[in-house]
Amino acid sequence: MLHLVPPTLGPTSLDPSPIPALRPEIEAARLAAVEAYGILDTVAEPAFDRITAMAADLFDAPIALLGFTGHSSVFFKSHHGLAATHAPRGPDPSQPALAPWIRSEFRFDFHASVPLHSADGHEIGMLCVIDRRPRRIEEPQTRGLRALGGIATDLLAMRLTARRVLAQAEMTAREVDHRAMNSLQFVASLLQLQSRASGSSEITQQLRAAANRVLAVARVHRTFSTQKTGGRVPIVAHLRRLCEELSNSADSMIRLEGADEVEVPKEQVLPIGLIVNELATNARKHASDPISITFHKLGEGTYELCVLDEGPGLPKGFDAAAPSGMGLGMKVVNALVAQLQGQLSAHANPVGRGSCFKVTFPVG
Ligand SMILES: Nc1ncnc2c1ncn2[C@@H]1O[C@H](COP(=O)(O)OP(=O)(O)O)[C@@H](O)[C@H]1O
Ligand SMILES: [Mg+2]
Repeated sequence: MLHLVPPTLGPTSLDPSPIPALRPEIEAARLAAVEAYGILDTVAEPAFDRITAMAADLFDAPIALLGFTGHSSVFFKSHHGLAATHAPRGPDPSQPALAPWIRSEFRFDFHASVPLHSADGHEIGMLCVIDRRPRRIEEPQTRGLRALGGIATDLLAMRLTARRVLAQAEMTAREVDHRAMNSLQFVASLLQLQSRASGSSEITQQLRAAANRVLAVARVHRTFSTQKTGGRVPIVAHLRRLCEELSNSADSMIRLEGADEVEVPKEQVLPIGLIVNELATNARKHASDPISITFHKLGEGTYELCVLDEGPGLPKGFDAAAPSGMGLGMKVVNALVAQLQGQLSAHANPVGRGSCFKVTFPVG
């Protein structure tokens, strides 16, 4: 006959908690405590695997599990001697919820476990050892399993601290980007004012171009300040916003057409944004609406960004990648393309009229 651990052979839990009638608000707080660790459904980590290996060794048992109880299942962060990564959970988050599953899966005769608690006292998981053969638990084993449970709890506390430090650092970075955006917008406004005050049309043009470039940098900082980037930014969403803003600010039509979304490293957003700004500004200046921007995947890790217009087309003998003798705009574009480790070329627009500036670059 199957049985849970017979009383003579040792308790099912070394730290048995009374099985409480779960109140929904308590369970919600417990689940929030589990979520705070960001550990559910994550990949295996050697530190936790070492703990289960030692626990199995300590009891000379084939299976040791380190599990965290989520909403509808127990996730095994480490599962020594067992392939399963999840088990259904019962209404109670504590170890006895696992018992029916373990019993039916393993027909076990021995099961010892210690609960794992969050710093604020919620029972978030368990470390347990399972065997088919009944045996008596010795006092050093009890101490050992508790100590291993303590190490797991310490690792979790460090994990929580690291997550909080990271979240704080991200918030600070967003705040810095927000301030940078404000300051750059302020500088752009000053340049605009100065451009209006200038008596020379050449200087007015130059100051407007400078204000436009400063605004382009400000837009990138705004994206960083409003998005939880985690080091990467969905570039098509950024380009779409950029097109809308460029269209509104210059009262022209700049469209983003058919694009393959990809998250690019944060460092690539500034050069991409500034390249689009320069090329779209040129398309407005030297051609006319409509201006379109496309962004496509060429191959694994390689993308192509195009800015197309339907203007008079490129001057004869134009070489986009040889900026000497050209204006500041193409020099800036070449420098930014080099920063992306990409290639720049310019062709006739395939629609038959106008030009097409193409940048291909690797997304790291
Ligand atoms: N979309 C375009 N259509 C036609 N010619 C262009 C286009 N973009 C750039 N050019 C040509 O390239 C030249 C260099 O551009 P740039 O370096 O930005 O300087 P600027 O815009 O100040 O003239 C332009 O003067 C123009 O002749
Ligand atoms: Mg230009």
